[in-house]
Amino acid sequence: MDYIITTKQLTKRYKSFIAVDNVSLNIQKGSIYGFLGPNGAGKSTIMKMLLGLTAPTKGSFTIDGKQFPNDRLSILKETGSFIESPSFYGNLTGEENLDIIRRILGIHRNSVKDALELVGLAEFGGRLVKKYSLGMKQRLGLAGAMLGRPSILILDEPTNGLDPSGIHEIRNLIKSLPGLYKCTILISSHMLSEIELMADHIGILNHGRLLFEGSLDELRKNALQTGFATQSGPDADNKTGAANLEDMFLSMIDKDNAGRKQRGKL
Ligand SMILES: Nc1ncnc2c1ncn2[C@@H]1O[C@H](COP(=O)(O)OP(=O)(O)OP(=O)(O)O)[C@@H](O)[C@H]1O
Ligand SMILES: [Mg+2]
Repeated sequence: MDYIITTKQLTKRYKSFIAVDNVSLNIQKGSIYGFLGPNGAGKSTIMKMLLGLTAPTKGSFTIDGKQFPNDRLSILKETGSFIESPSFYGNLTGEENLDIIRRILGIHRNSVKDALELVGLAEFGGRLVKKYSLGMKQRLGLAGAMLGRPSILILDEPTNGLDPSGIHEIRNLIKSLPGLYKCTILISSHMLSEIELMADHIGILNHGRLLFEGSLDELRKNALQTGFATQSGPDADNKTGAANLEDMFLSMIDKDNAGRKQRGKL
């Protein structure tokens, strides 16, 4: 299998607290990989480690055959990211903000217009960012991540704070990217129902541990076997199927939490 991101027993400890616990991920090239888990599960921490923003306590990872930390800079060059609501200079326009990132990356001028167009901000590129709506800022964050069309996009809750139509638009945009230009996307969210509409592969985290990794089809099969889904195949996309998958996800988390409590008592 052609994996573009692999982590081996990736672990992050803050004093005695384990935020990420021996996580081994395998992310296929060209996939949209949805990262799910409750608040504090470790999603952002893993993404930050992949971007070299925080150092792993233990474990290792490779991105496109490059090993961290030796190839840190070349990893960053081919990875676009959006982590926890990116910040911009309010007194500069959207276009000027992107141009700063473009210069740092040392890429062609046209990439700014290209990215603004990709996220549907072409007509607002000249507006000051302090006058942008929340959705426009999120789009600008995505445009920044996409500058230079990197082969890997790491997006931490990119639809956070958007209204339903904004969520729909950003979701469609993200879905279209691997087709528009060859890229792999790692995206986090709280909602399985949301990820289900975008991703083809899923990783489920709870308290820093990976509870499930596999394709959406495998998750559906799993749901069927455990009695959570009543349908599979195309029908699984209907409302009942989606709700059942969400139920299964929640039950997986509950079961893990109950096991933890039990172990804690022993
Ligand atoms: N710098 C830090 N020092 C101490 N603990 C930290 C630090 N950064 C994160 N943590 C802890 O690590 C755990 C994982 O946090 P993380 O931000 O990765 O979760 P998350 O899955 O992204 O959650 P959310 O869905 O709320 O964004 C949390 O318990 C958090 O409090
Ligand atoms: Mg987070």
